[in-house]
Amino acid sequence: MPMVVTDPEQPDNPIVLANQSFLDLTGYSPEEVVGRNCRFLQGPATNADAVRTIREALAAERELTVELLNYRKDGSTFWNELFISPVHDDDGRLLYLFGSCKDVTQRKEANHLKAEEHRLLKEVDHRAKNALALVQGIVRLTSAEDPRTYAESVQGRVEALARAHSILAAGNWREVPLQRVITSGAEPFGRSRISLDGPDVALAAEQVQPLMLVLHEMFSNALKHGALSAESGSVSVRWQTHDDGRLVVDWQEVGGPAPAPDPVPSFGSMLIETTIKRQLDGRAGFVWQHTGLEGRLEFPLGS
Ligand SMILES: Cc1cc2nc3c(=O)[nH]c(=O)nc-3n(C[C@H](O)[C@H](O)[C@H](O)COP(=O)(O)O)c2cc1C
Repeated sequence: MPMVVTDPEQPDNPIVLANQSFLDLTGYSPEEVVGRNCRFLQGPATNADAVRTIREALAAERELTVELLNYRKDGSTFWNELFISPVHDDDGRLLYLFGSCKDVTQRKEANHLKAEEHRLLKEVDHRAKNALALVQGIVRLTSAEDPRTYAESVQGRVEALARAHSILAAGNWREVPLQRVITSGAEPFGRSRISLDGPDVALAAEQVQPLMLVLHEMFSNALKHGALSAESGSVSVRWQTHDDGRLVVDWQEVGGPAPAPDPVPSFGSMLIETTIKRQLDGRAGFVWQHTGLEGRLEFPLGS
């Protein structure tokens, strides 16, 4: 086992003895370690709280065990389970400090992996259940004018969810760039007539599916009844964040056909409104201008 002994009587508590195991672990020669304080093993990523704990224990002449990140001579790192014990004489006077090291890198990495795997599995399970609930809603509520339209609508919506799923999986089920979600939402509808513009924003994992579904409805509506149904029509999607953490997405269609005098709310627009309200805790508003549909989606960005 790697071991050192330091002399607290000497200035800065230097190493007076280091065994071969310690030299093997750290990559130094005896001349390079004897006479130095052990902190030379620390580096920029060493956990400062562990170093503070050591300092406090040494000041109180207490023994302790800590895990801290150390650096070898070649710059590589290892997790050191360090045990330090003061050695007192019969009168209770501090003579030496004894330290033993254990390379616990593999255990640390395995634990970290386990925790990450657990988080990932929980997240995937949660998202899959959520997606299934959304699919059930879609299947149940999509209006069935005729079987073909019904099948197409369901398929389009489910595909939008599948795209959200792929983006989330590629991002390790953590937050993803909003730009990627909107770009992917626009893709099936011909990117050339859709302009997207906005700052880099991170969208929380749980907001990706609902937003993708909303975008899908909006682009589908534009293709069926709005600007994308006309050859010269186009859609612009701009977004910005506000100081209070809200995301505002502005939707503008131009060059489409004249709107129906009193458009009946479709399942698509109901889906947009309820999804924004219930799943994203926000609101959606639309007005038909003479130039085309204008809308605004607002919701707080998740953590
Ligand atoms: C016996 C002994 C062994 C030590 N071994 C290590 C070690 O292996 N790695 C390390 O980073 N610090 C080790 N330390 C801690 C540092 O020497 C130092 O006490 C710590 O960085 C806190 O002091 P500082 O804030 O002055 O740096 C050891 C200390 C003692 C007394």
